[in-house]
Amino acid sequence: MSKIAIGADDAALDLKQTLTERLEEKGWEVADYSVRPDEDDTDYPDVAVRVAEAVASGEYERAVLCCGTGLGMSITANKVPGVRAAQCHDVYSAERARKSNNAQVLTMGQRVIGPEAAKTVLDAWLDSEFAGGGSTSKVEKMEAVDRKYHPGNS
Ligand code: RB5
Repeated sequence: MSKIAIGADDAALDLKQTLTERLEEKGWEVADYSVRPDEDDTDYPDVAVRVAEAVASGEYERAVLCCGTGLGMSITANKVPGVRAAQCHDVYSAERARKSNNAQVLTMGQRVIGPEAAKTVLDAWLDSEFAGGGSTSKVEKMEAVDRKYHPGNS
């Protein structure tokens, strides 16, 4: 069974639950990095960094992050070298995030998308793979930007 990480702040726990159930239906083993009521690091950057670092280390090939808009999770996760996080609320973007951008992290916002639409976006992202070809050199250029600003992490 393939493992995937998921994480949400307190603005997106319902969406996280919806997507967790969908992932489990599709046979994924889901590791939950979401905020807990007894934690004091309960903001979206805390969750995004935990999940993004686990992706960057190779512990997970893919992860899903949920907050109110999906924006804070995406912005934070993209600061971790090697991580390509994409906020997607439509099926076309979700497909392209995989095929063109090789995004390992999908982010969504509970205040932006309803549960049924969110499941279709998740499905599109899960079922798409990096296309390679002409997209390879572009992803390599993104990786070069990581190396330029984080030379110790090459
Ligand atoms: C709530 O903190 C809200 O700002 C957060 O969930 C997210 O939407 C930020 O991008």
